[in-house]
Amino acid sequence: MCGIIGYIGKREAFPFLLNGLAKLEYRGYDSAGVALLSDELCIQKEIGKLSEIQFEEEEGKIGIAHVRWATHGRVSKENAHPHFDCKNEIAIVHNGIIENHRELKAGLVKRGHVFTSDTDSEVVSHLIEEFSAEGCNFEDAVINALKLLEGSYTLLAIKSGENKIVGARKGSRSLTLGISEQAIFPASDVLAFLEWTNKVVYLKSEDVFVADDELGLCIYNLAEDRIVVRPIDTVKCDAEEVKKGEFDHLMLKEISEQDETILRALQQNEEIVQGICDKMRNAAGTFFIGCGSSYNACLTGSYLFSKAAKLHVNPVLASEFENYEHFLTDKTLVFAVSQSGETADVLDAANAAKRKGSRVVGIVNRDGSILARESDGQLFMNSGPEICVLSTKTYTSQVVLMEMLAYALAGKYEEGLKKIGSLYLDIYKLTSRSMREHLAKLAAILYDKRDIYLIGRGAQYATALEAALKIKEVSYIHAEAFAGGELKHGPLALIEDGVPCIVFVSNDNKSKILSNAEEIKSRGGYIIGVASEREEIFDYWIKVPEAEELNPIIQIIPMQVLAYQLAVYRGLDPDKPRNLAKSVTVT
Ligand code: G6P
Repeated sequence: MCGIIGYIGKREAFPFLLNGLAKLEYRGYDSAGVALLSDELCIQKEIGKLSEIQFEEEEGKIGIAHVRWATHGRVSKENAHPHFDCKNEIAIVHNGIIENHRELKAGLVKRGHVFTSDTDSEVVSHLIEEFSAEGCNFEDAVINALKLLEGSYTLLAIKSGENKIVGARKGSRSLTLGISEQAIFPASDVLAFLEWTNKVVYLKSEDVFVADDELGLCIYNLAEDRIVVRPIDTVKCDAEEVKKGEFDHLMLKEISEQDETILRALQQNEEIVQGICDKMRNAAGTFFIGCGSSYNACLTGSYLFSKAAKLHVNPVLASEFENYEHFLTDKTLVFAVSQSGETADVLDAANAAKRKGSRVVGIVNRDGSILARESDGQLFMNSGPEICVLSTKTYTSQVVLMEMLAYALAGKYEEGLKKIGSLYLDIYKLTSRSMREHLAKLAAILYDKRDIYLIGRGAQYATALEAALKIKEVSYIHAEAFAGGELKHGPLALIEDGVPCIVFVSNDNKSKILSNAEEIKSRGGYIIGVASEREEIFDYWIKVPEAEELNPIIQIIPMQVLAYQLAVYRGLDPDKPRNLAKSVTVT
Protein backbone atom coordinates (compact mmCIF):
# COMPACT_ATOMS: atom_id res chain seq x y z
CA MET A 1 0.00 0.00 0.00
CA CYS A 2 1.55 3.11 -1.30
CA GLY A 3 0.66 6.66 -2.25
CA ILE A 4 0.68 8.04 -5.77
CA ILE A 5 0.23 11.52 -7.19
CA GLY A 6 0.53 13.06 -10.63
CA TYR A 7 0.50 16.62 -11.95
CA ILE A 8 -0.30 17.84 -15.44
CA GLY A 9 -0.87 21.54 -15.91
CA LYS A 10 0.42 24.99 -16.59
CA ARG A 11 3.10 25.25 -13.88
CA GLU A 12 6.22 23.35 -12.89
CA ALA A 13 5.13 19.99 -11.54
CA PHE A 14 7.98 19.30 -9.09
CA PRO A 15 6.83 21.39 -6.08
CA PHE A 16 3.26 20.10 -6.41
CA LEU A 17 4.46 16.52 -6.54
CA LEU A 18 6.73 16.84 -3.50
CA ASN A 19 4.08 18.64 -1.48
CA GLY A 20 1.54 15.97 -2.47
CA LEU A 21 3.93 13.17 -1.50
CA ALA A 22 4.36 14.71 1.94
CA LYS A 23 0.59 14.50 2.41
CA LEU A 24 0.57 10.89 1.25
CA GLU A 25 3.48 9.72 3.35
CA TYR A 26 1.10 8.19 5.90
CA ARG A 27 0.51 5.50 3.25
CA GLY A 28 4.14 4.40 3.17
CA TYR A 29 7.59 5.75 3.86
CA ASP A 30 10.02 3.02 2.82
CA SER A 31 11.08 4.96 -0.28
CA ALA A 32 9.95 7.75 -2.57
CA GLY A 33 10.40 8.72 -6.20
CA VAL A 34 9.48 11.27 -8.84
CA ALA A 35 9.40 11.18 -12.65
CA LEU A 36 9.19 14.44 -14.63
CA LEU A 37 8.60 14.90 -18.30
CA SER A 38 10.12 17.78 -20.24
CA ASP A 39 12.32 17.13 -23.30
CA GLU A 40 13.15 13.80 -21.79
CA LEU A 41 12.03 11.69 -18.87
CA CYS A 42 13.92 12.28 -15.59
CA ILE A 43 13.49 9.83 -12.75
CA GLN A 44 14.80 10.18 -9.20
CA LYS A 45 14.16 7.74 -6.38
CA GLU A 46 15.66 6.93 -3.00
CA ILE A 47 14.97 4.83 0.06
CA GLY A 48 13.92 6.48 3.31
CA LYS A 49 11.41 9.04 4.47
CA LEU A 50 10.88 12.18 2.40
CA SER A 51 12.61 14.26 5.05
CA GLU A 52 15.75 12.13 4.56
CA ILE A 53 15.80 12.38 0.75
CA GLN A 54 17.30 15.27 -1.25
CA PHE A 55 15.53 15.37 -4.61
CA GLU A 56 16.90 17.74 -7.21
CA GLU A 57 14.34 20.14 -8.57
CA GLU A 58 13.89 19.18 -12.24
CA GLU A 59 11.82 20.95 -14.90
CA GLY A 60 8.62 19.61 -16.38
CA LYS A 61 4.94 20.41 -16.34
CA ILE A 62 3.96 16.77 -16.28
CA GLY A 63 5.04 14.35 -13.59
CA ILE A 64 4.18 11.39 -11.40
CA ALA A 65 5.43 10.48 -7.94
CA HIS A 66 5.20 7.72 -5.37
CA VAL A 67 5.76 6.83 -1.72
CA ARG A 68 6.17 3.11 -1.03
CA TRP A 69 5.21 0.64 1.66
CA ALA A 70 7.05 -2.47 0.54
CA THR A 71 5.03 -5.58 -0.31
CA HIS A 72 6.73 -7.24 -3.30
CA GLY A 73 10.47 -6.81 -3.12
CA ARG A 74 12.54 -5.54 -0.19
CA VAL A 75 13.12 -1.89 0.59
CA SER A 76 15.78 -0.79 -1.92
CA LYS A 77 16.41 1.96 -4.44
CA GLU A 78 15.81 -0.47 -7.32
CA ASN A 79 12.42 -1.43 -5.92
CA ALA A 80 11.39 2.19 -5.33
CA HIS A 81 8.95 3.67 -7.86
CA PRO A 82 8.71 5.02 -10.56
CA HIS A 83 9.61 2.01 -12.71
CA PHE A 84 10.50 2.24 -16.35
CA ASP A 85 10.69 0.18 -19.53
CA CYS A 86 13.91 -1.06 -21.18
CA LYS A 87 14.50 2.26 -22.99
CA ASN A 88 13.71 4.56 -20.05
CA GLU A 89 10.96 6.18 -22.08
CA ILE A 90 7.96 5.06 -20.05
CA ALA A 91 7.54 5.61 -16.29
CA ILE A 92 4.85 4.18 -14.06
CA VAL A 93 3.87 4.42 -10.39
CA HIS A 94 1.65 1.77 -8.90
CA ASN A 95 -0.24 0.92 -5.71
CA GLY A 96 -1.73 -2.53 -5.21
CA ILE A 97 -0.92 -6.05 -6.23
CA ILE A 98 -0.56 -7.55 -9.66
CA GLU A 99 -1.36 -11.14 -8.85
CA ASN A 100 -0.17 -12.65 -12.14
CA HIS A 101 3.09 -10.68 -12.28
CA ARG A 102 5.23 -13.83 -12.25
CA GLU A 103 3.69 -15.25 -15.45
CA LEU A 104 3.73 -11.84 -17.11
CA LYS A 105 7.36 -11.27 -16.16
CA ALA A 106 8.44 -14.70 -17.37
CA GLY A 107 6.90 -13.97 -20.78
CA LEU A 108 8.45 -10.51 -20.98
CA VAL A 109 11.90 -11.81 -19.99
CA LYS A 110 11.63 -14.51 -22.66
CA ARG A 111 10.88 -11.81 -25.18
CA GLY A 112 14.06 -9.95 -24.20
CA HIS A 113 12.92 -7.43 -21.59
CA VAL A 114 15.42 -6.60 -18.86
CA PHE A 115 14.02 -5.98 -15.37
CA THR A 116 15.77 -3.82 -12.81
CA SER A 117 13.57 -4.50 -9.76
CA ASP A 118 11.91 -7.36 -7.86
CA THR A 119 8.53 -5.63 -7.79
CA ASP A 120 5.30 -6.81 -9.31
CA SER A 121 4.79 -3.26 -10.65
CA GLU A 122 7.60 -3.22 -13.20
CA VAL A 123 5.75 -5.59 -15.55
CA VAL A 124 3.38 -2.74 -16.38
CA SER A 125 5.99 -0.42 -17.89
CA HIS A 126 7.39 -3.29 -19.99
CA LEU A 127 3.93 -4.33 -21.17
CA ILE A 128 3.19 -0.75 -22.22
CA GLU A 129 6.55 -0.72 -24.03
CA GLU A 130 5.64 -3.91 -25.86
CA PHE A 131 2.24 -2.68 -27.02
CA SER A 132 3.79 0.65 -28.08
CA ALA A 133 6.35 -1.26 -30.15
CA GLU A 134 3.47 -3.07 -31.85
CA GLY A 135 2.18 0.32 -33.03
CA CYS A 136 -0.45 1.19 -30.38
CA ASN A 137 -0.72 4.82 -29.34
CA PHE A 138 0.15 5.51 -25.67
CA GLU A 139 -3.35 5.25 -24.22
CA ASP A 140 -4.17 2.08 -26.15
CA ALA A 141 -0.85 0.57 -25.07
CA VAL A 142 -1.78 1.26 -21.42
CA ILE A 143 -5.30 -0.13 -21.90
CA ASN A 144 -3.97 -3.28 -23.56
CA ALA A 145 -1.48 -3.73 -20.72
CA LEU A 146 -4.23 -3.25 -18.10
CA LYS A 147 -6.33 -5.94 -19.75
CA LEU A 148 -3.59 -8.45 -18.96
CA LEU A 149 -3.33 -7.58 -15.26
CA GLU A 150 -5.03 -9.59 -12.53
CA GLY A 151 -5.42 -8.07 -9.08
CA SER A 152 -6.36 -4.69 -7.79
CA TYR A 153 -4.38 -1.55 -8.42
CA THR A 154 -4.10 2.12 -9.10
CA LEU A 155 -1.45 3.31 -11.46
CA LEU A 156 -0.22 6.31 -13.42
CA ALA A 157 1.94 6.27 -16.54
CA ILE A 158 3.81 8.87 -18.58
CA LYS A 159 5.88 8.52 -21.73
CA SER A 160 8.54 10.62 -23.47
CA GLY A 161 7.03 12.67 -26.28
CA GLU A 162 3.46 12.29 -24.99
CA ASN A 163 2.00 15.32 -23.24
CA LYS A 164 -0.40 13.35 -21.11
CA ILE A 165 -0.84 11.18 -18.05
CA VAL A 166 -2.73 7.92 -18.38
CA GLY A 167 -3.94 6.28 -15.19
CA ALA A 168 -6.33 3.63 -13.95
CA ARG A 169 -7.97 2.13 -10.92
CA LYS A 170 -9.27 -1.40 -10.31
CA GLY A 171 -10.77 -3.10 -7.25
CA SER A 172 -10.23 -1.80 -3.76
CA ARG A 173 -7.64 0.92 -4.50
CA SER A 174 -8.86 4.45 -4.82
CA LEU A 175 -7.80 7.03 -7.37
CA THR A 176 -9.21 10.53 -7.38
CA LEU A 177 -8.63 13.36 -9.81
CA GLY A 178 -8.24 16.87 -8.41
CA ILE A 179 -9.48 19.38 -10.97
CA SER A 180 -8.40 23.03 -10.98
CA GLU A 181 -8.17 25.70 -13.68
CA GLN A 182 -4.40 25.25 -13.68
CA ALA A 183 -3.95 21.52 -13.47
CA ILE A 184 -5.25 17.99 -13.05
CA PHE A 185 -3.91 16.05 -10.05
CA PRO A 186 -4.54 12.30 -10.04
CA ALA A 187 -3.85 10.96 -6.54
CA SER A 188 -4.55 8.11 -4.12
CA ASP A 189 -6.09 10.58 -1.67
CA VAL A 190 -7.63 14.04 -1.95
CA LEU A 191 -5.29 15.22 0.82
CA ALA A 192 -2.49 15.21 -1.76
CA PHE A 193 -4.00 18.14 -3.67
CA LEU A 194 -6.49 19.70 -1.27
CA GLU A 195 -4.33 22.78 -0.87
CA TRP A 196 -4.94 23.67 -4.53
CA THR A 197 -8.41 22.39 -5.29
CA ASN A 198 -11.41 20.83 -3.61
CA LYS A 199 -13.05 19.81 -6.90
CA VAL A 200 -12.68 16.10 -7.46
CA VAL A 201 -13.66 13.29 -9.75
CA TYR A 202 -13.89 9.90 -8.00
CA LEU A 203 -12.92 7.20 -10.45
CA LYS A 204 -14.76 3.88 -10.37
CA SER A 205 -13.23 0.45 -10.58
CA GLU A 206 -11.79 -0.26 -14.06
CA ASP A 207 -11.86 3.41 -15.06
CA VAL A 208 -8.91 4.51 -17.20
CA PHE A 209 -8.33 8.24 -17.59
CA VAL A 210 -6.28 10.25 -20.05
CA ALA A 211 -5.42 13.81 -18.98
CA ASP A 212 -3.59 16.03 -21.50
CA ASP A 213 -1.63 19.26 -21.14
CA GLU A 214 -4.61 21.31 -22.42
CA LEU A 215 -6.38 19.92 -19.32
CA GLY A 216 -8.62 17.75 -21.45
CA LEU A 217 -9.89 14.67 -19.61
CA CYS A 218 -11.33 11.48 -21.02
CA ILE A 219 -12.46 8.50 -18.91
CA TYR A 220 -12.98 5.05 -20.35
CA ASN A 221 -14.30 2.07 -18.39
CA LEU A 222 -12.65 -1.25 -19.18
CA ALA A 223 -15.54 -3.43 -17.98
CA GLU A 224 -18.19 -1.42 -19.82
CA ASP A 225 -15.87 -0.96 -22.82
CA ARG A 226 -17.00 2.63 -23.40
CA ILE A 227 -16.24 6.23 -22.58
CA VAL A 228 -17.99 7.26 -19.35
CA VAL A 229 -18.78 10.55 -17.64
CA ARG A 230 -18.01 10.96 -13.93
CA PRO A 231 -19.36 13.95 -12.00
CA ILE A 232 -17.18 16.60 -10.39
CA ASP A 233 -17.77 16.64 -6.61
CA THR A 234 -16.64 19.10 -3.96
CA VAL A 235 -14.61 17.81 -1.01
CA LYS A 236 -15.61 19.15 2.38
CA CYS A 237 -12.41 18.95 4.41
CA ASP A 238 -10.00 21.81 4.95
CA ALA A 239 -6.29 21.76 4.00
CA GLU A 240 -5.38 23.54 7.28
CA GLU A 241 -6.63 20.52 9.22
CA VAL A 242 -3.77 18.38 7.97
CA LYS A 243 -1.01 20.62 9.37
CA LYS A 244 0.72 20.22 12.75
CA GLY A 245 0.02 23.78 13.85
CA GLU A 246 1.45 24.50 17.30
CA PHE A 247 2.05 20.80 18.07
CA ASP A 248 5.34 18.92 17.74
CA HIS A 249 3.64 15.96 16.12
CA LEU A 250 0.38 15.21 14.36
CA MET A 251 -0.28 12.41 16.84
CA LEU A 252 -0.44 14.88 19.72
CA LYS A 253 -2.50 17.32 17.66
CA GLU A 254 -5.01 14.62 16.78
CA ILE A 255 -5.18 13.38 20.39
CA SER A 256 -5.84 16.94 21.52
CA GLU A 257 -8.68 17.42 19.06
CA GLN A 258 -10.84 14.81 20.73
CA ASP A 259 -12.81 17.19 22.92
CA GLU A 260 -14.25 18.51 19.65
CA THR A 261 -14.24 15.41 17.48
CA ILE A 262 -16.48 13.50 19.90
CA LEU A 263 -19.02 16.31 19.48
CA ARG A 264 -18.69 16.17 15.71
CA ALA A 265 -19.32 12.42 15.78
CA LEU A 266 -22.59 13.15 17.55
CA GLN A 267 -23.79 15.25 14.63
CA GLN A 268 -25.91 12.61 12.95
CA ASN A 269 -29.31 12.64 11.37
CA GLU A 270 -31.60 11.05 13.97
CA GLU A 271 -33.82 9.46 11.34
CA ILE A 272 -30.82 7.66 9.86
CA VAL A 273 -29.66 6.49 13.31
CA GLN A 274 -33.13 5.23 14.25
CA GLY A 275 -33.45 3.55 10.83
CA ILE A 276 -30.18 1.71 11.44
CA CYS A 277 -31.39 0.67 14.92
CA ASP A 278 -34.59 -0.76 13.39
CA LYS A 279 -32.47 -2.77 10.99
CA MET A 280 -30.39 -4.05 13.92
CA ARG A 281 -33.53 -5.10 15.79
CA ASN A 282 -34.92 -6.92 12.77
CA ALA A 283 -31.72 -8.46 11.44
CA ALA A 284 -31.14 -12.17 11.72
CA GLY A 285 -27.51 -11.74 12.83
CA THR A 286 -25.45 -8.56 13.06
CA PHE A 287 -21.70 -8.44 12.50
CA PHE A 288 -19.30 -5.62 13.31
CA ILE A 289 -16.09 -5.97 11.31
CA GLY A 290 -12.89 -3.96 11.32
CA CYS A 291 -9.10 -4.14 11.55
CA GLY A 292 -6.68 -2.80 14.15
CA SER A 293 -8.20 -0.02 16.24
CA SER A 294 -11.44 -0.22 14.29
CA TYR A 295 -11.82 -3.83 15.40
CA ASN A 296 -11.21 -2.81 19.02
CA ALA A 297 -14.04 -0.28 18.62
CA CYS A 298 -16.25 -3.11 17.29
CA LEU A 299 -15.42 -5.22 20.34
CA THR A 300 -16.24 -2.28 22.61
CA GLY A 301 -19.55 -1.95 20.78
CA SER A 302 -20.40 -5.60 21.36
CA TYR A 303 -20.19 -5.05 25.14
CA LEU A 304 -22.22 -1.85 24.95
CA PHE A 305 -25.00 -3.36 22.82
CA SER A 306 -25.21 -6.36 25.10
CA LYS A 307 -25.35 -4.38 28.30
CA ALA A 308 -27.32 -1.27 27.36
CA ALA A 309 -29.54 -2.63 24.62
CA LYS A 310 -29.65 -6.39 25.36
CA LEU A 311 -28.69 -7.00 21.76
CA HIS A 312 -26.14 -9.55 20.65
CA VAL A 313 -23.75 -8.60 17.86
CA ASN A 314 -20.70 -10.45 16.54
CA PRO A 315 -17.45 -8.49 16.44
CA VAL A 316 -15.13 -10.11 13.89
CA LEU A 317 -11.69 -9.15 12.60
CA ALA A 318 -12.23 -8.31 8.94
CA SER A 319 -9.27 -10.48 7.96
CA GLU A 320 -11.00 -13.47 9.65
CA PHE A 321 -14.46 -12.75 8.30
CA GLU A 322 -14.28 -15.31 5.50
CA ASN A 323 -14.64 -17.99 8.18
CA TYR A 324 -18.08 -16.64 9.06
CA GLU A 325 -19.36 -15.91 5.58
CA HIS A 326 -21.51 -19.06 5.50
CA PHE A 327 -23.72 -17.44 8.17
CA LEU A 328 -24.57 -14.55 5.86
CA THR A 329 -28.04 -14.26 4.35
CA ASP A 330 -30.15 -11.44 2.98
CA LYS A 331 -31.36 -10.87 6.56
CA THR A 332 -27.88 -10.28 7.97
CA LEU A 333 -26.65 -6.82 8.81
CA VAL A 334 -22.94 -6.08 8.54
CA PHE A 335 -21.33 -2.96 9.97
CA ALA A 336 -18.01 -2.32 8.24
CA VAL A 337 -15.97 -0.03 10.47
CA SER A 338 -13.01 1.75 8.92
CA GLN A 339 -11.49 5.18 9.35
CA SER A 340 -10.03 5.24 5.87
CA GLY A 341 -12.82 3.32 4.18
CA GLU A 342 -10.01 1.80 2.13
CA THR A 343 -8.68 -1.11 4.21
CA ALA A 344 -8.62 -4.04 1.81
CA ASP A 345 -9.61 -6.67 4.41
CA VAL A 346 -12.68 -4.62 5.32
CA LEU A 347 -13.65 -3.97 1.70
CA ASP A 348 -13.28 -7.65 0.85
CA ALA A 349 -15.48 -8.62 3.81
CA ALA A 350 -18.09 -5.99 2.88
CA ASN A 351 -18.14 -7.21 -0.71
CA ALA A 352 -18.56 -10.82 0.43
CA ALA A 353 -21.53 -9.72 2.54
CA LYS A 354 -23.08 -7.88 -0.39
CA ARG A 355 -22.70 -10.90 -2.63
CA LYS A 356 -24.79 -12.86 -0.11
CA GLY A 357 -27.46 -10.14 -0.19
CA SER A 358 -26.64 -8.83 3.33
CA ARG A 359 -26.98 -5.11 4.02
CA VAL A 360 -23.73 -3.27 4.73
CA VAL A 361 -23.55 -0.14 6.88
CA GLY A 362 -20.22 1.70 6.69
CA ILE A 363 -18.95 3.45 9.81
CA VAL A 364 -16.37 5.60 8.12
CA ASN A 365 -14.42 8.85 8.36
CA ARG A 366 -13.43 9.61 4.77
CA ASP A 367 -16.54 10.60 2.85
CA GLY A 368 -15.14 10.02 -0.62
CA SER A 369 -13.72 6.62 0.29
CA ILE A 370 -14.71 3.39 -1.44
CA LEU A 371 -16.51 2.07 1.66
CA ALA A 372 -18.45 5.32 2.05
CA ARG A 373 -19.54 5.21 -1.56
CA GLU A 374 -20.27 1.52 -1.83
CA SER A 375 -22.02 0.64 1.43
CA ASP A 376 -25.83 0.60 1.63
CA GLY A 377 -25.93 3.01 4.57
CA GLN A 378 -23.34 5.19 6.27
CA LEU A 379 -22.55 6.79 9.58
CA PHE A 380 -19.72 9.30 9.33
CA MET A 381 -17.23 9.86 12.16
CA ASN A 382 -16.76 13.52 11.11
CA SER A 383 -13.29 13.53 12.71
CA GLY A 384 -11.59 15.48 9.91
CA PRO A 385 -8.40 14.12 8.35
CA GLU A 386 -6.36 11.83 10.57
CA ILE A 387 -2.82 11.69 9.24
CA CYS A 388 -0.75 10.12 12.03
CA VAL A 389 -0.54 6.41 11.28
CA LEU A 390 -2.06 5.59 14.67
CA SER A 391 -5.80 5.98 15.08
CA THR A 392 -6.64 8.19 18.04
CA LYS A 393 -9.45 10.64 17.42
CA THR A 394 -11.16 8.34 14.94
CA TYR A 395 -11.09 5.50 17.49
CA THR A 396 -12.98 7.59 20.06
CA SER A 397 -15.38 8.74 17.33
CA GLN A 398 -16.07 5.12 16.42
CA VAL A 399 -16.77 4.35 20.07
CA VAL A 400 -19.02 7.44 20.29
CA LEU A 401 -21.04 6.10 17.35
CA MET A 402 -21.35 2.69 19.02
CA GLU A 403 -22.46 4.36 22.25
CA MET A 404 -24.98 6.46 20.33
CA LEU A 405 -26.44 3.37 18.65
CA ALA A 406 -26.58 1.56 22.00
CA TYR A 407 -28.48 4.44 23.62
CA ALA A 408 -30.82 4.71 20.63
CA LEU A 409 -31.50 0.96 20.75
CA ALA A 410 -32.34 1.31 24.44
CA GLY A 411 -34.77 4.14 23.60
CA LYS A 412 -32.50 6.76 25.20
CA TYR A 413 -31.18 8.59 22.16
CA GLU A 414 -31.51 12.16 23.48
CA GLU A 415 -30.22 11.24 26.93
CA GLY A 416 -27.26 9.51 25.32
CA LEU A 417 -26.37 12.52 23.17
CA LYS A 418 -26.36 14.74 26.25
CA LYS A 419 -24.26 12.34 28.30
CA ILE A 420 -21.68 11.84 25.56
CA GLY A 421 -21.58 15.58 24.78
CA SER A 422 -20.93 16.37 28.44
CA LEU A 423 -17.59 14.51 28.24
CA TYR A 424 -16.21 17.47 26.30
CA LEU A 425 -14.55 19.12 29.29
CA ASP A 426 -13.22 15.89 30.79
CA ILE A 427 -11.55 15.05 27.51
CA TYR A 428 -10.09 18.53 27.30
CA LYS A 429 -8.56 18.05 30.76
CA LEU A 430 -7.24 14.59 29.91
CA THR A 431 -5.26 16.06 27.02
CA SER A 432 -4.10 19.17 28.92
CA ARG A 433 -0.48 20.05 29.60
CA SER A 434 -0.63 18.92 33.26
CA MET A 435 -1.94 15.49 32.27
CA ARG A 436 0.70 15.26 29.56
CA GLU A 437 3.39 16.02 32.13
CA HIS A 438 1.98 13.46 34.55
CA LEU A 439 2.10 10.84 31.80
CA ALA A 440 5.58 11.93 30.69
CA LYS A 441 6.76 11.02 34.23
CA LEU A 442 5.21 7.60 33.82
CA ALA A 443 6.88 7.27 30.40
CA ALA A 444 10.20 7.95 32.12
CA ILE A 445 9.53 4.94 34.38
CA LEU A 446 8.33 2.66 31.58
CA TYR A 447 10.46 3.60 28.58
CA ASP A 448 13.08 0.87 29.02
CA LYS A 449 10.75 -1.95 30.10
CA ARG A 450 10.66 -5.02 27.93
CA ASP A 451 6.97 -5.74 28.46
CA ILE A 452 3.90 -3.87 29.62
CA TYR A 453 0.73 -5.78 30.47
CA LEU A 454 -2.77 -4.34 30.59
CA ILE A 455 -5.93 -5.76 32.12
CA GLY A 456 -9.62 -4.87 32.01
CA ARG A 457 -12.98 -6.56 32.26
CA GLY A 458 -16.02 -6.09 30.01
CA ALA A 459 -15.71 -3.05 27.75
CA GLN A 460 -12.49 -2.19 29.63
CA TYR A 461 -10.97 -5.36 28.19
CA ALA A 462 -11.46 -3.83 24.73
CA THR A 463 -9.92 -0.60 26.04
CA ALA A 464 -6.94 -2.60 27.31
CA LEU A 465 -6.51 -4.16 23.84
CA GLU A 466 -6.62 -0.76 22.18
CA ALA A 467 -4.19 0.73 24.72
CA ALA A 468 -1.77 -2.17 24.15
CA LEU A 469 -2.02 -1.62 20.39
CA LYS A 470 -1.22 2.09 20.79
CA ILE A 471 1.81 1.38 22.99
CA LYS A 472 3.33 -1.27 20.75
CA GLU A 473 2.61 0.54 17.46
CA VAL A 474 4.39 3.71 18.45
CA SER A 475 6.95 2.82 21.15
CA TYR A 476 7.83 -0.71 19.94
CA ILE A 477 7.59 -1.96 23.54
CA HIS A 478 5.87 -5.31 23.81
CA ALA A 479 2.43 -4.55 25.28
CA GLU A 480 -0.20 -7.20 25.78
CA ALA A 481 -3.75 -7.01 27.09
CA PHE A 482 -5.68 -9.68 28.99
CA ALA A 483 -9.19 -9.96 30.31
CA GLY A 484 -8.71 -9.68 34.09
CA GLY A 485 -10.30 -13.06 34.76
CA GLU A 486 -7.89 -14.80 32.39
CA LEU A 487 -4.73 -13.95 34.34
CA LYS A 488 -4.89 -17.14 36.37
CA HIS A 489 -5.18 -19.21 33.18
CA GLY A 490 -1.66 -18.46 32.01
CA PRO A 491 -0.49 -14.84 31.91
CA LEU A 492 0.37 -14.77 35.65
CA ALA A 493 3.42 -16.86 34.74
CA LEU A 494 4.83 -13.75 33.05
CA ILE A 495 4.75 -11.59 36.16
CA GLU A 496 7.95 -11.03 38.10
CA ASP A 497 9.46 -8.20 40.12
CA GLY A 498 8.86 -4.78 38.60
CA VAL A 499 6.79 -5.92 35.58
CA PRO A 500 4.37 -3.06 34.84
CA CYS A 501 0.67 -3.74 34.53
CA ILE A 502 -1.94 -1.12 33.64
CA VAL A 503 -5.32 -1.77 35.25
CA PHE A 504 -8.55 -0.20 33.96
CA VAL A 505 -11.03 0.25 36.79
CA SER A 506 -14.72 0.91 36.28
CA ASN A 507 -17.40 1.13 38.99
CA ASP A 508 -19.25 -1.89 37.65
CA ASN A 509 -16.25 -4.22 37.92
CA LYS A 510 -14.15 -2.50 40.56
CA SER A 511 -13.82 -5.23 43.16
CA LYS A 512 -13.12 -7.96 40.60
CA ILE A 513 -10.50 -6.03 38.62
CA LEU A 514 -8.80 -4.85 41.81
CA SER A 515 -8.52 -8.41 43.01
CA ASN A 516 -6.96 -9.27 39.63
CA ALA A 517 -4.53 -6.39 40.21
CA GLU A 518 -3.80 -7.91 43.64
CA GLU A 519 -2.85 -11.20 41.94
CA ILE A 520 -0.22 -9.29 39.97
CA LYS A 521 0.96 -7.13 42.85
CA SER A 522 1.55 -10.12 45.10
CA ARG A 523 3.93 -11.50 42.46
CA GLY A 524 5.98 -8.31 42.37
CA GLY A 525 4.14 -6.45 39.58
CA TYR A 526 4.14 -2.64 39.36
CA ILE A 527 0.50 -1.50 39.24
CA ILE A 528 -0.61 1.51 37.22
CA GLY A 529 -4.26 2.27 37.87
CA VAL A 530 -6.52 4.10 35.43
CA ALA A 531 -9.32 4.96 37.84
CA SER A 532 -11.41 7.73 39.35
CA GLU A 533 -10.12 7.03 42.88
CA ARG A 534 -6.69 6.29 44.23
CA GLU A 535 -6.43 2.71 45.52
CA GLU A 536 -3.77 1.53 47.90
CA ILE A 537 -2.63 -1.09 45.48
CA PHE A 538 -1.62 1.49 42.82
CA ASP A 539 2.06 2.30 42.40
CA TYR A 540 1.09 4.99 39.89
CA TRP A 541 -2.35 6.53 39.50
CA ILE A 542 -3.81 8.00 36.33
CA LYS A 543 -6.86 9.88 37.49
CA VAL A 544 -9.86 9.76 35.14
CA PRO A 545 -13.47 10.65 35.89
CA GLU A 546 -15.86 7.72 36.38
CA ALA A 547 -18.06 7.82 33.29
CA GLU A 548 -19.77 4.42 33.71
CA GLU A 549 -20.84 3.09 30.30
CA LEU A 550 -18.86 5.92 28.68
CA ASN A 551 -15.58 4.84 30.29
CA PRO A 552 -14.36 3.37 26.97
CA ILE A 553 -14.22 6.92 25.56
CA ILE A 554 -12.55 8.45 28.60
CA GLN A 555 -10.05 5.78 29.63
CA ILE A 556 -8.33 5.36 26.28
CA ILE A 557 -7.29 9.02 26.09
CA PRO A 558 -4.51 8.97 28.74
CA MET A 559 -3.29 5.75 27.12
CA GLN A 560 -2.93 7.51 23.76
CA VAL A 561 -0.98 10.28 25.51
CA LEU A 562 1.18 7.73 27.33
CA ALA A 563 1.96 5.90 24.07
CA TYR A 564 2.92 9.24 22.53
CA GLN A 565 5.18 10.13 25.47
CA LEU A 566 6.85 6.72 25.31
CA ALA A 567 7.66 7.24 21.61
CA VAL A 568 9.06 10.71 22.28
CA TYR A 569 11.09 9.43 25.26
CA ARG A 570 12.55 6.68 23.11
CA GLY A 571 13.44 9.15 20.33
CA LEU A 572 10.96 7.67 17.85
CA ASP A 573 8.78 9.41 15.29
CA PRO A 574 5.23 8.96 16.60
CA ASP A 575 3.63 9.96 13.31
CA LYS A 576 5.41 7.33 11.25
CA PRO A 577 6.08 4.13 13.17
CA ARG A 578 8.36 1.62 11.48
CA ASN A 579 6.86 -1.01 9.17
CA LEU A 580 3.34 0.41 9.38
CA ALA A 581 1.09 2.48 7.16
CA LYS A 582 -2.25 4.08 7.73
CA SER A 583 -4.31 2.73 4.86
CA VAL A 584 -3.61 -0.94 4.36
CA THR A 585 -4.79 -1.68 0.86
CA VAL A 586 -3.32 -5.18 0.73
CA THR A 587 -4.94 -8.33 2.14
C1 G6P B 1 -3.78 0.16 9.79
C2 G6P B 1 -3.43 1.26 10.78
C3 G6P B 1 -4.23 1.07 12.07
C4 G6P B 1 -5.71 1.01 11.75
C5 G6P B 1 -6.02 -0.11 10.76
C6 G6P B 1 -7.46 -0.07 10.27
O1 G6P B 1 -3.28 -1.05 10.21
O2 G6P B 1 -2.04 1.24 11.05
O3 G6P B 1 -3.96 2.17 12.93
O4 G6P B 1 -6.42 0.80 12.94
O5 G6P B 1 -5.20 0.07 9.59
O6 G6P B 1 -7.66 1.09 9.52
P1 G6P B 1 -9.09 1.60 9.07
O7 G6P B 1 -8.80 2.76 8.15
O8 G6P B 1 -9.76 0.46 8.35
O9 G6P B 1 -9.83 1.99 10.29
